[in-house]
Amino acid sequence: MVTYEQIVTAAEAIRQAVGEAEIGVVLGSGLGDYVEALEDAKYIDYKDIPGFPVSTAPGHEGRWWTGKLHGKRVCMMQGRFHAYEGWEMDRVVMPVRVMKLLGVKTLILTNAAGGVNETFKPGTLMILTDCINFSGKNPLTGPNMDQFGPRFPDMSHAYAPELIALCEEQAAKLGVDCVRKGVYMWFNGPCYETPAEIRLARVCGADAVGMSTVPETIVANHCGMKVLGVSCITNMAAGILDQKLDHSEVVEVANRVKSTFRSLLDATIAAM
Ligand code: HPA
Repeated sequence: MVTYEQIVTAAEAIRQAVGEAEIGVVLGSGLGDYVEALEDAKYIDYKDIPGFPVSTAPGHEGRWWTGKLHGKRVCMMQGRFHAYEGWEMDRVVMPVRVMKLLGVKTLILTNAAGGVNETFKPGTLMILTDCINFSGKNPLTGPNMDQFGPRFPDMSHAYAPELIALCEEQAAKLGVDCVRKGVYMWFNGPCYETPAEIRLARVCGADAVGMSTVPETIVANHCGMKVLGVSCITNMAAGILDQKLDHSEVVEVANRVKSTFRSLLDATIAAM
């Protein structure tokens, strides 16, 4: 179990090494090199942060970066933690609580996801308007950490409406025409969903499915952060096309779209 003291200790190690931040960004698959945009960038390896998990997912490097971006102090996580790696849920969300202690007020969560909405294409960027927790897990299970927030946090605006509007506005200004909005549904993974699960997801109102982001969203809402979520649709979800799902397709599309994804995030951070 992750204790409050462990979160304080990890935050202190990061503060000493790389300093505080007002905006936090979790970089999903393919976006890791966005850290190049930071000025005066410093990093600490996850393995040097006491009690911190270490990424095992391919393409997730395991470094915490802090620097300046458009005059704001921004920290970026190059590598995130997924429940499917075997981490307890409180370990998966530990970084978000660490960010809270380091002064982060706005959290940007990015990920790769499968498109359920048949009007999406691989390469669509989806701004999250809401999410569905279909994992049967919740990172707030267990004694409430009163230092962070209430036992029963509100999730009516899991993704801040003003950030959704800001991000959409920047997409329009940039003339990026692959940006859509939608609902993200969290499946635990690590296997991809079955076609029947994707039909269920569609009936539930999901536009995309993925294996991350929702735990971080829940904990960020619990501790009063504003959240922006953006998915890169890397593939159509299972059963939509007559082809098998493969991680190499996810990586290939994430890499193809990353410069557009970066521009959108960059413009949104500049406008915050
Ligand atoms: N399902 C779940 N997670 C994913 C997918 C998918 O189809 N694509 C990328 N991440």
